[in-house]
Amino acid sequence: MLKVAVLGAGRIGQIHAANVAANARAELIVVADPVEAAASSTALKLNCEYSTDPYEAIGRSDIDAVVIGTPTDTHVPLTLAALAVGKAVLCEKPLDLDQSKANAAIVEIEKSGKPFMLAFNRRFDPSASEIKRAIEAGEVGDVRQVVITSRDPSPPPADYIQRSGGIFRDMLIHDFDMARWLLGEDPVEVFAVGNCLVDANISSLGDFDTTMVILRTASGKQCHINTCRHASYGHDQRIEVFGSAGMLQNGHIRPHTVHRFTDGTTDAQAPLLHFFLERYKQAYELELDAFLRSVESGTDMPVNANDGRKALALAEAALRSIETRAGVAVD
Ligand SMILES: NC(=O)c1ccc[n+]([C@@H]2O[C@H](COP(=O)([O-])OP(=O)(O)OC[C@H]3O[C@@H](n4cnc5c(N)ncnc54)[C@H](O)[C@@H]3O)[C@@H](O)[C@H]2O)c1
Repeated sequence: MLKVAVLGAGRIGQIHAANVAANARAELIVVADPVEAAASSTALKLNCEYSTDPYEAIGRSDIDAVVIGTPTDTHVPLTLAALAVGKAVLCEKPLDLDQSKANAAIVEIEKSGKPFMLAFNRRFDPSASEIKRAIEAGEVGDVRQVVITSRDPSPPPADYIQRSGGIFRDMLIHDFDMARWLLGEDPVEVFAVGNCLVDANISSLGDFDTTMVILRTASGKQCHINTCRHASYGHDQRIEVFGSAGMLQNGHIRPHTVHRFTDGTTDAQAPLLHFFLERYKQAYELELDAFLRSVESGTDMPVNANDGRKALALAEAALRSIETRAGVAVD
């Protein structure tokens, strides 16, 4: 069993820690968070040790792998410290908000030769991986268009928006990765529009809450991503892939399958799962399992640092497209 340290005991760190504790390939040894109450309460729940010093946890000789679920600006230093002492790393997205810092870190990560995976969890969602499998099996022929809808139930607080790097680097980063993965080619041109239709405060922070992006690959495949920080009906996550021989679509996941027929409505179903922690519960479990399997077997990680770099480059291009009101070539 791989012995694991989880760094960060916030929203995502708690998910990762619980998944490590529940995974038969791993043993959760320690949870580290500078906020002692966060570290100790997670450790108590999951029956492991805790530390308030992430570097102490990284340096322990009984740790094989480190899962990083800390704020984005700590991802690079924690990753490099862990790789330097020979630990395998699963790091939350994005690697960094600054493209040049992320690129410099990727050079170091690749030089280390140690296993590193970036946590683009949506690739491990069973519906997304079935769509990918069907594309690769040729079930829809040549892919022509990918349409991704990604709407959150409600915007995050202003202090989160301020630190997030903006909607493209924070939220659409998942959709950019999904687009690349499903198109099977890297986009070479990006057209984007962004507005604030949900909350004017988001505009005053220099960000957008409602966006549409079009990506085009060198061979002419197209992808349309539409996102909003607020959807009154819950976490709206849909993918459609249209090809020369057919179309693939995923559906919504609901807490149960009951359909209601009354005098006021027909075919009414339960609301969508509320947000990402519920909607992608299984994806986080499968993501961790894929990481642990790659570490165990010494095989390539299913998502690497370069995938992070390419998604970030699309985010930067989308921002430039809004600034210039024109299509932007991807660096
Ligand atoms: N893949 C996904 O679906 C997904 C979802 C949410 C967040 N994220 C990413 O995960 C990261 C964390 O987001 P969150 O929403 O859990 O944040 P959060 O604020 O809820 O939690 C972060 C935790 O890290 C702790 N922390 C701060 N500095 C630390 C350090 N140096 N070492 C250890 N712990 C430290 C904080 O005290 C806090 O408890 C962000 O990079 C975010 O982009 C990814």
